[in-house]
Amino acid sequence: MTYTNTVLTSALDAIGNTPVVDLSRLTKGIDGRILAKLDYLNPGFSKKDRIARQMIADAEASGELRKGQTVVELTSGNTGTGLAIVCGLKGYPFVAVMSKGNSMERARMMKALGAEVVLVDQLPASKVGAVSGGDLELVENETRCIVSERGAFRADQFRLQGNFRAHYLNTGPEFIRQSGGAIDAFCDFVGTGGSFAGCAAALKEHNPEIKCYIVEPEGAAVLAGEKAVYPNHRIQGGGYAMADLSMVNKEHIDGYLQVSEAQAIEITRRLASEEGVFAGFSSGANTAAALNLLAGDFKGKTIAVIMCDSGLKYLSTDLWKSTV
Ligand SMILES: Cc1ncc(COP(=O)(O)O)c(C=O)c1O
Repeated sequence: MTYTNTVLTSALDAIGNTPVVDLSRLTKGIDGRILAKLDYLNPGFSKKDRIARQMIADAEASGELRKGQTVVELTSGNTGTGLAIVCGLKGYPFVAVMSKGNSMERARMMKALGAEVVLVDQLPASKVGAVSGGDLELVENETRCIVSERGAFRADQFRLQGNFRAHYLNTGPEFIRQSGGAIDAFCDFVGTGGSFAGCAAALKEHNPEIKCYIVEPEGAAVLAGEKAVYPNHRIQGGGYAMADLSMVNKEHIDGYLQVSEAQAIEITRRLASEEGVFAGFSSGANTAAALNLLAGDFKGKTIAVIMCDSGLKYLSTDLWKSTV
């Protein structure tokens, strides 16, 4: 036997290069394939580890982030978890600012990883488990205060190119390599739009024929030009009904898809029970949208989707409760 030393120097090197699985059980009887990238297998159990590592690396390289400086970010939990890991390993104190509407597993996890967690109340009309654009504004205000009080570096995932670059340099090219380039379309439920923007840019650079679709929740499809009549949906991590996402190159958008909360939940549960893919709401939304594509113009084609985070992050929600 020959031995290869594959020991990594830290969990930082365990970020990315996640497997891609053909969801062939879910697509049984359907003409076409859905290739799912299991990004919940990252150390912080979400795709956001990638952007945390890239934003910090970029800020170090540009000199924007000084040795030992405090890092602050607004998070629905996943970016915060990634930043808690990256900052912890690199020696930067990290403050995560999060809405009380997000599941508490996330806050606990960030604390365990060494972060200081600041929780912000929701608007009176909002519900736990459904963070609206208005709730996010409150979190944004608190984040700005903390950044200025502490002279901190803001790892702003809505603004920093590291968010885009993480997916442009890694997630997208990984998809191309792992699928042997055989991708016809990519669809992605957007929060900041970083994953969509980075993957779409990489995929289209590889083959301009690959079609890229933005996925939004039914009732909050503002990017598609609709009114937000249901901003308090339960698909955590995105669908914030923000009319503009600065990171997204509009030329890369081939269309907009909508998924209802109920469809996202149903498919998230089927991912777990039929595919052994234990992921969160937005992964279900991505897969539901991909199924819609296969049922329409993309019959017989291959659709790429990201499994954004782990189902473990939703154990306190009704995503799983009602199934036992
Ligand atoms: C679980 C989950 N899904 C989807 C998204 C949206 O990803 P992006 O911000 O890259 O658009 C996020 C972002 O926070 C997320 O946490």
